Amino acid sequence: MLSYKSLGFVNTRKMFAKAMIGHYAVPAYNFNNMEQLQAIINACLETQSPVILQISKGAREYADETMLRYMGQGSVEMMKRMAREKGLKEIPIALHLDHGADFEICKSCIDNGFSSVMIDGSALSYEENVAVTKKVVEYSHEYDVTVEGELGVLSGVEDDVSSGTSHYTKPEDVEDFVKKTNVDSLAISIGTSHGVYKFKPGTNPKIRLDILAEIEKKIPGFPIVLHGSSSIPQEYVAMVNQYGGDLAAAIGIPEEQLREAAKSAVCKINIDSDGRLIMTGVIRKILMEDKKVVDPRKYLGPAREALKEMYARKNRDVLGSAGRV
Ligand code: G3H
Ligand code: 13P
Ligand code: ZN
Repeated sequence: MLSYKSLGFVNTRKMFAKAMIGHYAVPAYNFNNMEQLQAIINACLETQSPVILQISKGAREYADETMLRYMGQGSVEMMKRMAREKGLKEIPIALHLDHGADFEICKSCIDNGFSSVMIDGSALSYEENVAVTKKVVEYSHEYDVTVEGELGVLSGVEDDVSSGTSHYTKPEDVEDFVKKTNVDSLAISIGTSHGVYKFKPGTNPKIRLDILAEIEKKIPGFPIVLHGSSSIPQEYVAMVNQYGGDLAAAIGIPEEQLREAAKSAVCKINIDSDGRLIMTGVIRKILMEDKKVVDPRKYLGPAREALKEMYARKNRDVLGSAGRV
């Protein structure tokens, strides 16, 4: 058993309590490699924002769970040293399992230094979702690890599970679910979706802030999570396509709507696809423009810098988490 506390992580309890009172959301950014992780940590330290580092099942398979744990630990050490050097406050960092599919994967993460896990029972029946979430919560709380559950189904692709249609969370279910499971936060479906292809250009995407308000009435002060919250920056879709890519036109969740949601009980906002787009766009451009480049630092470095700028801007202008440590 490796406690997250010995690695320097925190769970999400205090982060969410502060976010609720301060009317902002804590960023939850996914990482799979060193450059993404450095960009997240550098941006969050520079903007003095708490952060949740998310690792998906796919990330565990890609980078190896042991490697990821040491990378996470290394990022805490790097953050502390940089904070000292720059005269900044240290930032709280949570290490979180994104879309945990069953009890076993959640347990393995808890036993290996994660401070927070998501048990995603949203594809199960309501009763099965309650049962598996409760089981994960009971184990997690023994080790002071916090748990995110999910009610409702988002459309889009999560790991290898894809769902063509979304089912909004039913406000009438949330109180019962929270009471029966004792979960610490709840991911809901109100019109966001996973992946790069969210909405067709020319449509007017609207997240259902009315359903969110209904949910808040049922469970006042309870931390809500929004998945699938990338905004799909159009300049990077264009950049990917200009430099040899072939992405279909698509738009994402308008940032003003995320800002609105962050002022409410939404305490955690998940963003992955925006970073993927930016990294791909920058790398494509450099490789097309400089046909002689063979040093990965020459394209991964600028991609990391562009990612960092995006995360810092999200913290400042969208989630409102900057300056909250
Ligand atoms: O919700 C899905 C995240 O974007 C993680 O994606 O499972 O391909 O790593 P992934
Ligand atoms: P995006 O695909 O919109 O970035 O959502 C990421 C996410 O929800 C990770 O859990
Ligand atoms: Zn998600």
